[in-house]
Amino acid sequence: MTNSLLSIQDLKVTIRSKGMEMHAVNSLNLEIPPHSVVGLVGESGCGKSITAMSIMGLLAPGVSISGGRILFDGEEISSYTPAQMRQVVGKSISMIFQEPMTALNPVTRVGKQVEEVLKLHTNLPHAERKKMVVDMFKAVSIPDAEDRYKAYPFQLSGGLRQRVCIAMAMILNPKLLIADEPTTALDVTIEAQILKLMRDLKHNYDTSILMITHNLGIVSELCDAVNVMYLGEIVERAETQRIFDSPLHPYTQGLIHSVPTIEPEIQKLENIPGMVPDLMHVPEGCRFCERCARATARCSREHPELYEREPGHFVRCFLYDAKGEVSGDGE
Ligand SMILES: Nc1ncnc2c1ncn2[C@@H]1O[C@H](COP(=O)(O)OP(=O)(O)O)[C@@H](O)[C@H]1O
Ligand SMILES: [Mg+2]
Repeated sequence: MTNSLLSIQDLKVTIRSKGMEMHAVNSLNLEIPPHSVVGLVGESGCGKSITAMSIMGLLAPGVSISGGRILFDGEEISSYTPAQMRQVVGKSISMIFQEPMTALNPVTRVGKQVEEVLKLHTNLPHAERKKMVVDMFKAVSIPDAEDRYKAYPFQLSGGLRQRVCIAMAMILNPKLLIADEPTTALDVTIEAQILKLMRDLKHNYDTSILMITHNLGIVSELCDAVNVMYLGEIVERAETQRIFDSPLHPYTQGLIHSVPTIEPEIQKLENIPGMVPDLMHVPEGCRFCERCARATARCSREHPELYEREPGHFVRCFLYDAKGEVSGDGE
């Protein structure tokens, strides 16, 4: 626990809107060891991006950390000022997003944009900065890297734009890269190429990766460990192999056995009825109980803890109580 690169402890994130308070993240614990790839998985609306933005110190107005803390390299970054955070973001922690255009300035040449990161965080002269950018473009397999340095974002395909974003995120060899659905906006061929690049990064750099996705295929290819998130909570956590070999939570089982619909925006899962409720309709007991085929009366009354079912395998479900026995009170 103490040797984690990133340690999220009992994090609560509150959204205030129209006089209402909603809890988008509820007592979340998550550890990222050095040199590891950790998955954060769940359907759309489960609070994955809010978790990522909490780490980055980039929560939207009205959204704030209301409890717990985030430690990075032993430092409590969740209490940093925006000025302190600017020293960390882009250098020690960086992020890539689903839609590369949100991270790129449409009216600035892409090479210049990546160079800006070096300008902000180093004293290197221009020629050296430019060389580093071109080398990084080559490292992320951008063809004709020198020419592409001068391109504007609109002159590049979606896949190349994402490679530019990855180059920007990796240029200072950060300790942590947060990848929030980095391939969701791309077609499957390009997605496979970007995933291959992420696998290469994993091997060639020391960077740990927090891989956020709704796609368990990506998790199985990249991640050492998985955290399954449902409606603001971790409902299962284990090493990747274990999650796929013996998923415990009905939600995880549903995710693994579901074929997502073709349109990524809809994300209705075949094996799990219904959709993630919005934050104004969070169930009182187990947050998943309304969609769970195995729910009992207890599930709608009580909120389950995260049980350690096997060493390192945690699950938030009354099917696995503290004694490791199947529980429940019938109907
Ligand atoms: N700025 C915001 N204002 C109000 N609600 C928000 C805001 N950002 C996110 N939410 C709500 O918080 C929940 C989690 O959102 P998000 O973290 O984006 O989920 P995910 O990334 O898992 O799809 C959703 O119900 C979403 O509607
Ligand atoms: Mg998201």
